[in-house]
Amino acid sequence: MDLGEVRKKAKEQLQPYCRVCPVCDGRVCAGEVPGMGGAGTGAAFRANIDALARRRFNLKTLHGVKKTDTTIQLWGQSLSMPIMAAPITGVSYNMGGKMSEDEFTDVWVSGALQAGSLGMIGDGADPVMYDGGLKAIRTAGGKGVPFIKPRGQAEIIKRIRQAEESGAIAVGMDVDGAGLITMALKGQPVEPKTPAELKEVIAATRLPFIVKGIMTAAEAEIAADCGAAAIVVSNHGGRVLDFTPGAAEVLHQIADRVKGKLTILADGGVRSGADVLKLLALGADAVLVGRPLVVGAFGGGKEGVALLLNKMKNELVSAMLLTGTADVKNVSYDILA
Ligand SMILES: Cc1cc2nc3c(=O)[nH]c(=O)nc-3n(C[C@H](O)[C@H](O)[C@H](O)COP(=O)(O)O)c2cc1C
Repeated sequence: MDLGEVRKKAKEQLQPYCRVCPVCDGRVCAGEVPGMGGAGTGAAFRANIDALARRRFNLKTLHGVKKTDTTIQLWGQSLSMPIMAAPITGVSYNMGGKMSEDEFTDVWVSGALQAGSLGMIGDGADPVMYDGGLKAIRTAGGKGVPFIKPRGQAEIIKRIRQAEESGAIAVGMDVDGAGLITMALKGQPVEPKTPAELKEVIAATRLPFIVKGIMTAAEAEIAADCGAAAIVVSNHGGRVLDFTPGAAEVLHQIADRVKGKLTILADGGVRSGADVLKLLALGADAVLVGRPLVVGAFGGGKEGVALLLNKMKNELVSAMLLTGTADVKNVSYDILA
């Protein structure tokens, strides 16, 4: 299986929801939520892409870095690369449903695992999403991370218990899902969380807790103070609020404030190993990838997800050699021009 075949099959399977564009930049699919696009004008999706494209590297080849280390340790796991599969749900209404939610989450989690990485799963109004994801994590021996929507406190804690029972190595909440009116319309309201409420949720489990959807240094600090093990600097792929900045625009400022206090993850618009290295230089410890791996999943199943992750890892190695970066655990801001 090669990338060309994967993309061709994905295009057939995903049409008209995703056109599998040469560059996945949110232009053609602007406003397609449900679908694979960004909300409204699509500006927040494009901001992720543009913010990464604006950063440039200082090309360096006269140095002694001849070997690179792309491994990281996270939540007791050794990962082959600092790149994980982001939580994605809603196969039926976002991707056309040629795969079931169960099949998709299984391919997602097992494909990431095959590449030596981790897959994350999400939560939605239809219980098939969270439950199916947990099933995939259980099958993977717990090697996966579920994300719960910011529901009422009791509903969140109930799902944390289910995550614990599945053996998941960590659990998180996509707090940026707080404005999803669709959840309320389906009788499952979501809401912003006060620091006290966040603290209560985090204190309810001994699993490392990840707060996803942080876009300001002040909120990163709140997450750290509430006991979060990690944050994901993310605008949810531009799907929740039009006109937010791109993750790469705000990441450095956030990392400046909380680096060392918790693990910093980031996502949005990562399309290559070079993009991964840029986010690491801006302060991330690891990154998540969404849409490109959906193409892998629909075009090649578990192998397709692993293929795309490994492609990014190879590109990351190349970019590391050409910037004099020996280890992903120690990436200098100065590699950026
Ligand atoms: C179709 C789709 C569904 C998503 N569902 C979820 C979800 O259920 N929970 C969540 O935390 N993020 C969700 N996300 C956001 C992703 O986890 C991630 O933040 C985003 O896709 C990263 O941007 P990228 O796709 O440009 O890589 C979804 C994204 C897409 C495209």
